[in-house]
Amino acid sequence: MPTFPVEPFRIKVVEPIRRTTRTQRERLLINAGYNLFRVPAAHVFIDMLTDSGTGAMSDHQWAAMMRGDESYASARSFFELEDAVKKIFGFKYFVPTHQGRAAENVLFAVMVKPGDVVPNNMHFDTTFGNIVARGGRAENLIADIANDPAAEAPFKGNMDIEKLDAFIRATGPEHIPLGMTTITNNAGGGQPVSMANLRATAETYHRYNIPFIIDACRYAENCYFIQQREAGYADKSILAIANELFSYADGCTMSAKKDGLVNIGGFLCVNDEDLFTKIQSELILREGFPTYGGLAGRDLEALACGLWEGIDADYLAYRVEHTRYLAERLEAAGAPIVRPPGGHAVYIDAKAILPHIPQPQFPALALNLALYLEGGIRSAEIGSVSFAHKDPDTGVMIYPELELVRLAIPRRVYTQAHLDYVVETVKHVIEHADAVRGYRIVWEPPLMRHFTARYEPVS
Ligand code: F0G
Repeated sequence: MPTFPVEPFRIKVVEPIRRTTRTQRERLLINAGYNLFRVPAAHVFIDMLTDSGTGAMSDHQWAAMMRGDESYASARSFFELEDAVKKIFGFKYFVPTHQGRAAENVLFAVMVKPGDVVPNNMHFDTTFGNIVARGGRAENLIADIANDPAAEAPFKGNMDIEKLDAFIRATGPEHIPLGMTTITNNAGGGQPVSMANLRATAETYHRYNIPFIIDACRYAENCYFIQQREAGYADKSILAIANELFSYADGCTMSAKKDGLVNIGGFLCVNDEDLFTKIQSELILREGFPTYGGLAGRDLEALACGLWEGIDADYLAYRVEHTRYLAERLEAAGAPIVRPPGGHAVYIDAKAILPHIPQPQFPALALNLALYLEGGIRSAEIGSVSFAHKDPDTGVMIYPELELVRLAIPRRVYTQAHLDYVVETVKHVIEHADAVRGYRIVWEPPLMRHFTARYEPVS
């Protein structure tokens, strides 16, 4: 038996990636205002910015693309996708959307009005933003253990059911048009939610007649964790686990760019017929006719195929073990990480590596840039650049608890050797951590500054 996950695929098409020199990267960073979003991808060696839409499609998916039916309405490709969505997710109605946030936008447009509140274990920033854009408030009610990066628990994405119940009573169910849970919890380390917790969350929402919608982007990875970690599921297939999981909910939003194994696509499912009628009208305004929803026929085909590949037992075991391999190697190299590793990414604790950089000088950004400078690796900053904000009453800056760097793993893209290269680079940066400097912002936009801000090193 191998002691490492072996790719259950072989490579038929290759895309060259090129290493740059350190001097070139120094220049590239200056030109990019030290913002990795601005560095041309051609000059990134290993791109771990996100696992969203960055995966490799299979030969079956590419073949399916050629079968795409580009008819405007009721294309054959729509029915291919409908079949997969019905069999896996089980909801009565569904519409395609061009990606996850489009599904959120359509759903909240018809459900959320000013003054409403939407609870979640933890909102991802697009669900948060789309709720706020409708005049609503987004509330995170995850169990406290999620806030401790070192704490070991099998389902660190779980909702705190007592907090949820108390919150609904204090707010009044009439102000809560829907309740959510995100699987896996991306904003909190890619941690899974247990079946028992999903069932209890559904029961709580339903006791107050609140529809329960799952943010399902990484549902397949979540199902795998349930199969591996929750009593009673070891002998169940991923399909059976997915069927049970979604049977507790009234609908879901899906960014298919993750566990749908496609580069673009998403969908929205519901059971309620009246709600579906409203969704269709909104979709026609924003995305397109309800059988294509902003996608080409070929995209629908690739997704229909990708959904089945995404729940394949061999693929999923490899996927989650591949992530765990990176996590374990990083830990062995002395990197402090969020425990236990989640499904799609490894999160490194930048504060622990760079204790000499104070939060106003952005330790997670400093680590993110050091990884690029050292090895051409692009990661995502999840710290004070993304999450520090001014208290509206006092004007005092409030810093987030954690300064993390996310190494997201694109699906079926990088091999074990690529991961080993990442580990060696991180190790080198840790060994020379004293030399890493903090940064200051020289320009920032009013909203979502991490995408476009410009920085310079603090001398
Ligand atoms: N929900 C979650 C939990 C997500 O992680 C994302 C995207 C979305 C919704 C929105 O989906 O991008 O298709 O519109 N997450 C990406 C990431 C961007 O890098 O984690 P989308």
